[in-house]
Amino acid sequence: MSQFSDRAMAIQPTGVRKMFDLAGDDVISFGLGEPDFQPPQVAIDAFYQAMNDGHNKYTTTAGLPALRRKIAESWSPYLEGMTEDNVCMTMSGTNALLNLFMTLINPGKNILLPEPYFPLYGPDATLVGGEAKYYPCLFEHEFIPQISDLESMVDQNTVAILYNFPSNPTGGTLDIQQRDALLEFAQKHDLWIISDEVYDRIVFDEEHVSFMGTGHDKTLIVNSFSKTFAMTGWRIGYIISSNLEAMKQVVKIQYYISACSNDAMQYAVLEAMEKANDFPSMVAKEFEQRCHLIVNRLNAMPGVQCHRPKGAIYVFPKVDVPGMNSEEVALELLKDGVLCSPGSAFGPSGEGHLRFAYTISLEDIARGMDKVEGTLKRLQSNA
Ligand SMILES: Cc1ncc(COP(=O)(O)O)c(C=O)c1O
Repeated sequence: MSQFSDRAMAIQPTGVRKMFDLAGDDVISFGLGEPDFQPPQVAIDAFYQAMNDGHNKYTTTAGLPALRRKIAESWSPYLEGMTEDNVCMTMSGTNALLNLFMTLINPGKNILLPEPYFPLYGPDATLVGGEAKYYPCLFEHEFIPQISDLESMVDQNTVAILYNFPSNPTGGTLDIQQRDALLEFAQKHDLWIISDEVYDRIVFDEEHVSFMGTGHDKTLIVNSFSKTFAMTGWRIGYIISSNLEAMKQVVKIQYYISACSNDAMQYAVLEAMEKANDFPSMVAKEFEQRCHLIVNRLNAMPGVQCHRPKGAIYVFPKVDVPGMNSEEVALELLKDGVLCSPGSAFGPSGEGHLRFAYTISLEDIARGMDKVEGTLKRLQSNA
């Protein structure tokens, strides 16, 4: 018998890292979902200053009140009147997700999760003793879930549904009608909504469509500074909800997860929000240009069909090479010097797709796409 817990034995290392482990240093990497920018300089300076000023202690569990107030205020376009009590700082979006699974899901209960997925969701359900039930977000529906699929999955043990728009890995985004249909489904079945909106400020042309402010009281939003402020390595995020009863439980759980978030860093993030609030839109503009380039290039290649995402930092094209699965195609690309992720790493309906994170310069995207084109032509002619 194993000496380790059932929960440790029930989860596997993520498949997403497999390609990285095989890659050399000289590849053109579309692998990492991590902006290639420095955080705003004012935030770096404020971090240093805060440490020198002695902010090197525990904070309250929910976090620095001034930062939580600033965050609550930043959500006022969706819902007016929230205060610091509606916000709990966490040590990343990842950390926030684990908190919410712990807060909402009892052993034996299930949660509906998108598929293809951000690979942490399912293991988080397992870690809390719950069951993950995956609903499809398919290419033919622009990666938007269909209510009929959701209806066929929900049962008396379903307590929550997780939505992720803009999506990793698909880049799928919602319009208001689609959001409302998903909301109505959750309301009809009295489900908690966990809405993972970590890409909320990386949207192109259109406004972000949020689950905040819809009137469904059982809604909790996960957010993070990783992508929007290029702070992946800082590990800071938050949970926000209009539901104060839920927030009390969230803060209680957060204490046992991390006691609190990083003291000095919270001052730095506050400075970023106050003095560099246009940083996310600057980042989004850059990603939008890259998105156009990569989509145009991919759609001109044999056997490739790619939607044009309206947000996040990924494309998830269908790549058809007869006789080869997505991992085999990704391995061939790697041999030719391009790192991307096989769609199957994000769930079974990712098969037949590749994920490219356009987190490199326009020049590198162009060079990488030349290589992808060459590889696909070679594979197609061998097929
Ligand atoms: C959809 C989604 N949610 C959450 C996260 C977690 O972000 P972090 O833990 O860096 O805040 C990521 C990171 O890739 C993501 O893509």
